[in-house]
Amino acid sequence: MADKPFLTDIKTLRKRARRHIEQGAVTEGYRADRETVIKLLNEALATEIVCVLRYKRHYFMASGINAEGVAAEFLQHANDEQGHADQIAQRIVQLGGQPNFSPEGLMTRSHSEYVEGETLIDMIKEDLVAERIAIDSYRDMINYLANNDPTTRRMMEGILAMEEEHADDLVNLLGKLSK
Ligand SMILES: [Fe+2]
Ligand SMILES: [Fe+2]
Repeated sequence: MADKPFLTDIKTLRKRARRHIEQGAVTEGYRADRETVIKLLNEALATEIVCVLRYKRHYFMASGINAEGVAAEFLQHANDEQGHADQIAQRIVQLGGQPNFSPEGLMTRSHSEYVEGETLIDMIKEDLVAERIAIDSYRDMINYLANNDPTTRRMMEGILAMEEEHADDLVNLLGKLSK
């Protein structure tokens, strides 16, 4: 007879576990505000998409005697930003959200701007400004996430480190071109 409550308990545990399974990676221990995190991630996704578009435009428009090396850098950055967009979209889905790829409102959701720029120097300067905006907004996000969602935080830390590398690449290019 002593077995009965134990068995009932197992039943309850299993029922509860089944409910958790439906939520995938999001468990009871998830401490961040999921809705807010998904909203912030969608803003970061928009930022990355705008950066892909801007770097692509710059890649195809780069011309002049110094263009070749600079264009290669623009293309590398465009590909890196596309990789970031994919990582962020994947994480939004893991959190039970929907990645927003809609062109409508893209510029409003994005932190960085889409500036075409006339000359090679203009383009590099605009890209540098955009990287610096991303760096500050991603750092804010990382601080907000703190220990409440370490997976998203670690992902954003990796992306932030790469944006800092991008900014460094661009400032070096500017230095070389203005000599
Ligand atoms: Fe990026
Ligand atoms: Fe970047």
